[in-house]
Amino acid sequence: MSLKIGSRRAIVVSSPEIAKEVLHKHDLEFAGRRIVDAITAWDHHKVSIAWLPPQSQWRNLRKICKEHIFSSERLNASQGLRQQKVQQLCNYVGQRCLNGQAIDIGEAAFSTTLDLMWNTFFSVDFAQSDSISSSFSSQGAKEMVGNAFKILSIPNLVDFFPILRAIDPQGIRRRAKVHFGKLLDIMDGIIRQRSQERYTSNTYQRKNDFLETLLDLNQQNESVWSYKDMKHLILDLFLGGIDTSSVIVEWTMAELLRNPEKKSKARDEIRKVIGKNELVQESDISNLPYLQSVIKETFRLWPVFPFLVHQAQSDTQINGYVVPKNADIYVNLWGMGRDPSLWSDPTSFVPERFMDGEIDMKGQHFQLLPFGTGRRMCAGLPLADRMVHLMVASLLHKFEWKLEEGIKPEEIDMTEEFEGTMHKAVPLKAIALLKPL
Ligand code: HEM
Repeated sequence: MSLKIGSRRAIVVSSPEIAKEVLHKHDLEFAGRRIVDAITAWDHHKVSIAWLPPQSQWRNLRKICKEHIFSSERLNASQGLRQQKVQQLCNYVGQRCLNGQAIDIGEAAFSTTLDLMWNTFFSVDFAQSDSISSSFSSQGAKEMVGNAFKILSIPNLVDFFPILRAIDPQGIRRRAKVHFGKLLDIMDGIIRQRSQERYTSNTYQRKNDFLETLLDLNQQNESVWSYKDMKHLILDLFLGGIDTSSVIVEWTMAELLRNPEKKSKARDEIRKVIGKNELVQESDISNLPYLQSVIKETFRLWPVFPFLVHQAQSDTQINGYVVPKNADIYVNLWGMGRDPSLWSDPTSFVPERFMDGEIDMKGQHFQLLPFGTGRRMCAGLPLADRMVHLMVASLLHKFEWKLEEGIKPEEIDMTEEFEGTMHKAVPLKAIALLKPL
């Protein structure tokens, strides 16, 4: 399907065969990104891993992510930091449980992901960072992160009619500048404080976090890897990682509450593998095939990004049609996930369909691409995979879950809403219990 809106041409890909042609066979030709006007605030697009064209500067950032940030070794080194945060989530749920109060699952998952990521990067809680606690309330700070992410999803007339750029009629670039600016300032403060401690204190103890690694790279070659590069990379990783990971936790819990027998099955597996009194560890995930299938099935029905959005870098022939240079490519993950020619009973939640382990989410199976595939695939997949499984497994391991009084499983409102990610329009509220139902 081809659509033309203003100066933009969009081609929609809705089958795994054509997705494979575009993202695998012609990976390089379609690895461009369309620069939206909002992202030009602070010239972010000129240094950003998510927006640069697939050339040497971008390759260098991907290499840093792959080798220095998201390698198994680095993630193993920082897993203790994440373990503590998930324990705090369980403590919070435990307290609400004693009072019989319902929990907003999306909100709890968002706060936890924010702290999981902030700790993985900086070894400190988000709200406890000096540059945040001195200027923002914890809620205000969270809103700031949410706003920076959401501004990118507002349809902007400038993106379709570039002549309007000078006047920025909806004020989107101006607002993006404010939201990104606040986050960049915070990161700047944290980076400078740490590097000062690192270079001036005799008793300085190295941390097991990403910032330490990024400062090592800066020390090795400041002209190649500057503080500015660091700030913008961290901004991208936060914008790419927080909302996405928490949204899928909420969808997963919503599906499990709608399907109590699947919830019991997932919980029984977790308790059997881990034991009732132990803590769930990231290393347990590989022993939890049913939980993995639950997460895959949730991604199939509720892909956090309903489309992969790329740009053609040259005229390229696909299936007998010429896709012109600069056309936007939308790979329709949402449509493929619900296509009856690809999945039996496509609208039902059936994790069992993945239990043979033949389909994974790592970009080899074109009917299920929640993290994309090829060179532009999600850079943070190894961390996302750990965080999402760890959060869901911990919530199921310790607690039983029920819906608020008077709500039946089939009445959970599953309407979706798009704000940068596809999230639940009506927040999921559930009550945790320590004893079996
Ligand atoms: C459930 C969680 C997540 C999902 C579903 C997800 C999904 C995606 C998708 C679909 C893309 C675009 C792929 C494409 O264009 O073909 C992407 C890109 C990206 N993601 Fe994720 N992501 C998640 C978590 C994370 C995390 C935790 C991080 C980092 C900490 C991250 C960092 C990035 C970055 C930097 C890119 C841009 C890569 C590039 O353009 O080269 N993501 N992600």
